[in-house]
Formats: sequence, structure tokens, C-alpha cells
Amino acid sequence: MNSGSLFAEVLKQENRHNPYPLYAQLRKTPVSRQDDGTYVVSTYAAVRSLLYDPRVSSDEQNNLRFKSGLGISTSDTPLRQPEIPPAFIFLDPPDHDRLRAIVMNQFTPQRIQAIRPPLEELVKDLLDKCRECQQIDIVDQFAYPLPVTVICKLLGVPLEDEQYFQERSTILANSLDPEQHYSQEDVCRVKQARAQLGEYMHKQLDNCRQHPGNDLLSAMIANGDLEAGRINEQEMIAISMLLLVAGHETTVNLITNGMLTLLRYPQHLDRLRQNPELAPKYVQELLRFEPPVQFRTRTTLADIEIGGTIIPQGVPLVLLFASAHRDPTQFEAPDQFNPDRHNNQHFGFGGSLHLCVGAPLARMEAEVALTALVQRLQSPRLAENMPEYRQGASLRGPRHLYVKVEGVA
Ligand code: HEM
Repeated sequence: MNSGSLFAEVLKQENRHNPYPLYAQLRKTPVSRQDDGTYVVSTYAAVRSLLYDPRVSSDEQNNLRFKSGLGISTSDTPLRQPEIPPAFIFLDPPDHDRLRAIVMNQFTPQRIQAIRPPLEELVKDLLDKCRECQQIDIVDQFAYPLPVTVICKLLGVPLEDEQYFQERSTILANSLDPEQHYSQEDVCRVKQARAQLGEYMHKQLDNCRQHPGNDLLSAMIANGDLEAGRINEQEMIAISMLLLVAGHETTVNLITNGMLTLLRYPQHLDRLRQNPELAPKYVQELLRFEPPVQFRTRTTLADIEIGGTIIPQGVPLVLLFASAHRDPTQFEAPDQFNPDRHNNQHFGFGGSLHLCVGAPLARMEAEVALTALVQRLQSPRLAENMPEYRQGASLRGPRHLYVKVEGVA
């Protein structure tokens, strides 16, 4: 295959179940120019170098092609509301750092640890509901409701509204894939979803103002950053939308990819069942082996030379984390699932300035969830070898994962 069309293949739904052979072809050169002018970065060293390079921008204003749902303008949508600016994941310093600091002030270890008891209770309740089942859809019955409930609790958003925000959130999550295969109709749908979710979060913030709870959004408001002019109302809406979407659209895939991998490696499923204290190592390796975020997009602010290639200024860039994770010059036997590997420094949560804000929470959710699944599902086995995948190529994971069981303990 022509190397300039490999990334287009990665984006095709038919390759979602196993993009890794395509990544191996892309890694023949650290950076590969695609026919549409995108530069795809696929080796570990090149991804790392560009992830930390200040000449590489996350600001979607620098690159119209890569404008995704959380970054595009809402100004021409039918809803009458002020423009919602891009969330800070799509910004560079100094705005990125200013807005990220406001979230980090409230996203404290104590706040995350306080979620552990209700999280354990929720995991128990979800599995109790499966007691009579002989077949379980790990996604719909477990891996999806879990992070949605957790993020609602964290943000103080009512769980009853789940269907409303979920439909819009999924549209925005899918829009993280480069826009090249979107129709005009798709773009309108994304804009509409963003504007509606913005209006919804606006109402939630008003509610937090009138009836403050002990949630993160109420804490952000109470901190006085708005009054002090460190953030404006629309930026606050953008942040709360980002947290809502990022907080569950990824974690569902970590739990589902995790269970799928353990079922494909039954000796590891047994080992984790017998040694639950190994859960952090398992989650660390799952983030390398089947990362929920396969790639992120960027733009170059200058000509950059890397691995003998000059990437010109102003071009769209794809940092292919999941390919870097399978680079044999960085990871020994990278295609093997091995939770015992040393120095497992992957990009599952990104890196540098944009390192995932929710990483400690996501790790805790996945550790508690996977430990409970392997301990309580009796003789679990895959009902089908190849699950159907969700639409996203960037946020990649099964749409359903049917597992046959002898019961749930
Ligand atoms: C398994 C679950 C998760 C994975 C794999 C994941 C992955 C990532 C990755 C790769 C990035 C870097 C994006 C970039 O470089 O452009 C990121 C950023 C981010 N994540 Fe997560 N994430 C997860 C869960 C969460 C949760 C639970 C939250 C919030 C509650 C969250 C909030 C964020 C935010 C706000 C950013 C933007 C950080 C910035 O731009 O400074 N994530 N995440």
C-alpha cells in the first residue's frame, strides 16, 4: 500500500478492530507525509520529541482541518448564546495554563480519594444487577454506566440527564477524528451538539451558583476566579463540557479494552483474580497495549526537522500514541501483553503540558472495575471473537462486549 494513504486506512471503520499492522507500516519512517498533507508521527522517539516541543501547537485555530467538536465555533448555530471558546485541551500557553490551573486547584487528591467508597459501591451494585445473567454486555451493563455516574457525581450533574448529554457527548467525542471524512451535515450536527451541551452546562453552573454542593463545579465557582477575572463565564462552560466528555468517553474504553484483553489472555485474568494488588500494573500495561486515546492532533508553528524529515510550518500533525506504544526500539516484544514490563513509560495519558487531568481518577476507576470483574464473573468467556467497535478511531473501543458467564458471585 502507498504509505501516503495509510492513515486514511486507520480512519476506516473496517480497520478499527486491529489498526496495529497499519501502525507497523507507518513506523517504517518516524514521520510520514500523507496524500492530504497531514504528517503522521509514529515512532516512540519522534512522538515524544514532538509532544514536548513548544513549536507544536494544540490550538485548533491554527488548523482549520483538525477542528473538532470541542474546539469549533458555535456562533452560527441556531441557538442564541454567546460564543463558547475552545476548551483548554485545544489551547496553548498562556491561556491553556491559566485555565488548567483553575481546574487543578480543585481536582485535588482528597477529592479523588473521596470518590473511592461510592465508586466501590457502584461497581458492586452494577454487578449485583447482573446476578441472573448468563451473558453480559460489559459496555452497556458496566463499563459505560460506571464512569458516567462517577463524572456526574464529581461535577454535580444530575444522572437523570444522562441520555440528553450522552447523545451530544458521543458526537463530540467522535469528532476528535480528523475532519477529512466528515460531510457538511456531520459538521452541522457537531456544532449543534456543542451548542446544546454548552447551554446545558450553563444551566448546571447557574444551579451550582444557587445551590452549591460539594462538587467540583461548585468548588470552582466558590473559589472566586470569575469575580477576580481569571476566567470568564464562557470559558467556565467550555471547561465543564470538556470535563464531562473527557471524564467518561475514555474511561469506558479503558475498562472495556481491559476486559477484552484479559479474556484474550486468560492466564492474566486468573493471575489478577488471585493477586488484586497487581491491578495498578495491569492498568498501566493496558494503557500501553490498548490505549483508549490512540492519537491526538496538533499543528506545527515552525519548520521542524525530525528523523531526517522536515515538517513544514502550519501543517496538520497526528501524534500516533498507540503506534509509539508498539515501537520495538522502546518496548521489548511490544505486541505482547506483559504487565511485568519495566520502565513502562507510555503516552496513554498524553504527556507534557496536556498530560491528562483525570489520570488518577481514571486509573482508580479501571483498577476497581477490572478487579471486581475478574473476581465476580464466573468462568467468563467471549461470546464473539471480534466485537463491534465504536465509530471513533482516536477514542477507540468496542461498542458492545458480550461475555458469557456461569454466574456472578
Ligand atoms: C482512561 C481514561 C482516560 C484516558 C485514556 C485519557 C487520556 C487523555 C489524553 C491522552 C490526554 C492528552 C490530550 C492531548 O495531549 O491533546 C488527556 C487530556 C485530558 N484529560 Fe484525559 N483521559 C482519561 C480520563 C479522563 C478523566 C476521567 C478526565 C476528567 C475527569 C479527563 C480529563 C482530561 C482533560 C481536562 C484533559 C486536557 C488536559 C490539558 O489539555 O491540559 N481525562 N486525557
